[in-house]
Amino acid sequence: MKVFIEKDYDALSKKAAELIKEVVKENPNAVLGLATGSSPIGTYAELIKDHQKKDGLSYAGVKTVNLDEYVGLGEGDEQSYVTFMRKNLFNYIDIDLSNTNLPNGKAVDLDKECDRYNALLATLKQDVQVLGIGSNGHIGFNEPGTSFDSVTHVVDLTENTIKDNSRLFDRIEDVPRRALTMGIKNILDAKMIIVVANGENKADAVAKAIEGEITESVPASVLQKHDNVYFVVDAKAASKLTNK
Ligand code: GLP
Repeated sequence: MKVFIEKDYDALSKKAAELIKEVVKENPNAVLGLATGSSPIGTYAELIKDHQKKDGLSYAGVKTVNLDEYVGLGEGDEQSYVTFMRKNLFNYIDIDLSNTNLPNGKAVDLDKECDRYNALLATLKQDVQVLGIGSNGHIGFNEPGTSFDSVTHVVDLTENTIKDNSRLFDRIEDVPRRALTMGIKNILDAKMIIVVANGENKADAVAKAIEGEITESVPASVLQKHDNVYFVVDAKAASKLTNK
């Protein structure tokens, strides 16, 4: 595991974008595993900035798989993760939208949708998976207690996550209570993993993920078992690490 402690959000976003760009330069047909949430927005903004430069990197051959989606939300819904991805990345790069994939939160049969997504992931192994981290250590929407062997499944979100994510909704009652998420096994299948985290409210989760016991109570601690993980964090998110 490599840990980069950057001075602020801007610097961590630049660093994370550099790492992703390396992957795409190496393989223009790379599969990018992507995350939503506020943490990677700056990273995506850096990728867009770079793409829009003269001779910027092309994503025409890239395919993407996203971690998760709220149950009941999808295309056309402002708060859905598919909308988030378009507004924060896909609309500003030359990716073919038909090469972008998210679980479908509006699927009528959610179990079938999980099966479809797992089958898709089996054919699209992530060259790199971007992750944020929840303040309780969740990755994707894999809440504490999720099996390390889990694959794409439907989850009941914890009150903690609903509260954290409510800032992006008008009212807390509007936050969906369930989501579809890649499982931890799907995440660990990635060849490389980049975790981005900033701010004091991530400091506990970051310290536990990097230095704590590997336990299903802290989903991100499983990343210690993967042999190609990069944590790219700002000084505040790194503040509780004992070994800097
Ligand atoms: C949500 C997402 C996660 C994300 C987390 C942290 O729960 N499902 O993928 O990592 O939020 O979000 P933020 O980056 O906004 O703190």
